[in-house]
Amino acid sequence: MQGELTVQGSKNAVLPMMAASLLCRETTVIRHCPDILDVHGMERVIRSIGGKAAYADGSLVLRADEVKNDVIEEKTVGELRASVLFLGSMLARCRRVKIHYPGGCSIGRRPIDMHLAAFARMGAVTEESGEFIRCQCAGKLRGAEIPLPFPSVGATENILLAAVRAEGDTVIRGAAREPEIVELCGFLNAMGARVQGAGTSRIRIRGVERLHGTEWNLGADRIVFLTHAMFAAGCGGEAFLRMKEPVPAEEKRVLETLGCQLLADPEGIRIRQRSVPGRIPYICTRPYPGYPTDGQSLLMAVLTKARGVSTIEEGIFENRFRMVLQLRKLGADIDFVSSRARITGVTRLHSGTVRADDLRSGAGLLIAAAMAEGVSEIRQSRYIDRGYEKMEEQMRALGLRARRRPDA
Ligand code: UD1
Repeated sequence: MQGELTVQGSKNAVLPMMAASLLCRETTVIRHCPDILDVHGMERVIRSIGGKAAYADGSLVLRADEVKNDVIEEKTVGELRASVLFLGSMLARCRRVKIHYPGGCSIGRRPIDMHLAAFARMGAVTEESGEFIRCQCAGKLRGAEIPLPFPSVGATENILLAAVRAEGDTVIRGAAREPEIVELCGFLNAMGARVQGAGTSRIRIRGVERLHGTEWNLGADRIVFLTHAMFAAGCGGEAFLRMKEPVPAEEKRVLETLGCQLLADPEGIRIRQRSVPGRIPYICTRPYPGYPTDGQSLLMAVLTKARGVSTIEEGIFENRFRMVLQLRKLGADIDFVSSRARITGVTRLHSGTVRADDLRSGAGLLIAAAMAEGVSEIRQSRYIDRGYEKMEEQMRALGLRARRRPDA
């Protein structure tokens, strides 16, 4: 492959920012916003409660001068994991909210006990009934000391959203350190919040009376970068991926072990692969700065043709190996027991028809299909559209051959 493109804006950074837009009555503009289904789902939720949301040419304009409804019934909530973030921002804004239990990709149980325990410490009462969760607090939310037993990304974000307008200080111990958390904190501070310690496991939030609108230029999506880098790692060739952010150290180490050469310049990263991918003897997905669970299926796809045997352990979600059954249809040699997969590199993959079960397995299958001989077909590509903007065009920009069936 040979080509270049600009890495799209970060999905996991923009979704909590959309929930944060409810924290003020003024207009918020997010530029370099990706045109993906998850963003449009969040827009529908905002409109369903009386807010305004409009997307055009990479700019997302949000305004919640009025919130008419504290019941979020919009049916997309059931399919959208990030909708759980409306709990924090609606509690801060309206002191009460009732929301459909959040959905998202079917990659594990995905409980929200840590979110709810944190709200309880801040003075909110939660009731779960059937498919709905109701949260409310008598007065204003109170700042609190919140220890997290695991650095959950969503729980850290929800606490941030609730705490920025709470009474007094909140301290999150054991907070998630992902770059998306750092970007959310920067965004909240640009709205007038007082958040310190983003990127460390101790975040301190001083509650303020009011927040104001802001304009924000969204950073590049590090998982989309990794996806394109894995196309290069698996297919060989060269790509120039335009973005300002550095490649996280663990992703860089993994790409280099696969045999890629990474050259950073002020405009982006040039990635070159001249050989068959090298094997990864053992890797376990971990919270940042570990190797991301969202990059697990991307790596597995490349390792199907690596030199030798590799082992991947999934350390975050329990149901993320469903893609193995699909990769086997293309000729991959993979066994797995529980959360550990053993991948024996083969010299060739053949074409086939496979099915995406979630967003990142869809991307992993695209990588495997690009590495395989012949023409393959990926079904349920709608999952891919949740997080990748016009993926077939992005692949073509990298010199790969991909097209969407007109009926898909
Ligand atoms: C976010 C990302 C997702 C990524 C994940 C881990 C978004 C929209 N999604 O998901 O792409 O794969 O981080 O980097 O940003 N857990 C509990 N109780 C809780 C909360 C979480 O047990 O209250 C567990 C989860 O089941 C999981 C682990 O903690 O095993 C990590 O989950 P979390 O970091 O919360 O992931 P999400 O925020 O759902």
